[in-house]
Amino acid sequence: MSSYTPADFDFTFLEEGFCARDCVEQRINESSMSDDKDAFYVADLGDVLKKHLRWMRALPRVTPFYAVKCNDSRAVVMTLASLGTGFDCASKNEIQLVQSLGVDPSRIIYANPCKQVSQIKYASAHGVQMMTFDSEVELMKVARCHENAKLVLRIATDDSKAVCRLSVKFGATLKSSRLLLERARELGLDIIGVSFHVGSGCTDPETYSQAISDARCVFDMGAELGYNMTLLDIGGGFPGSDDSKLKFEEITAVINPALDKYFPADSGVRVIAEPGRYYVCSAYMLAVNIIAKKVVMKEQSASDDEDDGANDRTLMYYVNDGVYGSFNCILYDHAHVLPTLHKKPKPDERTHPCSIWGPTCDGLDRIVEQCILPDLPLGEWLLFENMGAYTVAASSTFNGFQKPDIHYVMSRSAWQRIQQISTQGLHGPIEEACPSDLPSCCRKESSLELPAKPCPAHVL
Ligand SMILES: Cc1ncc(COP(=O)(O)O)c(C=O)c1O
Repeated sequence: MSSYTPADFDFTFLEEGFCARDCVEQRINESSMSDDKDAFYVADLGDVLKKHLRWMRALPRVTPFYAVKCNDSRAVVMTLASLGTGFDCASKNEIQLVQSLGVDPSRIIYANPCKQVSQIKYASAHGVQMMTFDSEVELMKVARCHENAKLVLRIATDDSKAVCRLSVKFGATLKSSRLLLERARELGLDIIGVSFHVGSGCTDPETYSQAISDARCVFDMGAELGYNMTLLDIGGGFPGSDDSKLKFEEITAVINPALDKYFPADSGVRVIAEPGRYYVCSAYMLAVNIIAKKVVMKEQSASDDEDDGANDRTLMYYVNDGVYGSFNCILYDHAHVLPTLHKKPKPDERTHPCSIWGPTCDGLDRIVEQCILPDLPLGEWLLFENMGAYTVAASSTFNGFQKPDIHYVMSRSAWQRIQQISTQGLHGPIEEACPSDLPSCCRKESSLELPAKPCPAHVL
């Protein structure tokens, strides 16, 4: 892993005191000279490092297996591979991607309870042994196709308070867990543990403690049937940015005591998790350009203003990425996005009710139903933060629109820290973050107030 070079990642170094946001500014400034105003991302791999350090501080007993489905960008997977995380793969292609980066199969869990037979055979042929299941049919498939499988029983959770529910589709009840364990015993299969997912975008940390307690019941059932299980997989569901209602540390404050109660450190049970959103959401900023605009007059004005009637207008902005592209997160991930302005508005600048639309010919392609923005000219940029999770991974080129380019950046200190962790591991107390990962401009980041500094980054 330590043999990766910056060129393998294809990122640009950020110079001291500059942040990813500065690179967005630089690209926008450069574009003002040309007609090329395609939407683009700037992704800060140093932010992924920061998340990892935060994880290791807050959940020292839990090894993260990054959920590749959340964002399968090679640079992200490579960063996490260097940091020594494991990987949750949902399919043959994800296994291929992770293994192409030299990750040992023992660092992969094939965490899809319903797998195609040919893909189970692929996992078997490539040494991937850990895999989840939640049905008898899956057990029979695995018994036929993968003699070395180490199975993990996925149990259902009460994910009614999560933004994206998963237990409507996956997870065995406690009652059916016993039957599955009995059946696995008959088939001579090796069950090594239990997994669950509290739903993506979890809003109630108690869901984790209930699920950990349920997992304990299943471990005990397994013991009665002669299984000595050694793996607990607490899934994903962790927030990706500090904007979320529930903070990461509020969740970990519930998980840690639950683990200590039901799976104490001396229990011999290894604990892993499958965070996706947590690692990548805040690392990505998307810049989109206003390609068209329409002024719609309200039919009846509620305003008594005698001025130019500006309050009676709604502005419709059309930008060059939409719900069939990066903003698929609105449809699939129940995301609510709001833009920030690239240019600071004047203090007395009039604002208007606006809606923001994607570039395709479909009426469904609406990014923001209502927001307040100034009257912006064509060619102006809108910025969207926290765009790393469930965005690029599921976007399409519907209507022939290309996906935005992603420009990866990282500070030199982040790069050095990643290399150090990659070769020596994480030892001793874990520091907050590399100082230059948080340049002063980012620490007080308010996108409406940032200076438009040129980015002194250079391409390797
Ligand atoms: C099996 C599994 N693990 C992990 C994840 C990642 O979840 P999150 O992004 O909420 O951490 C998902 C998301 O759908 C999933 O299905």
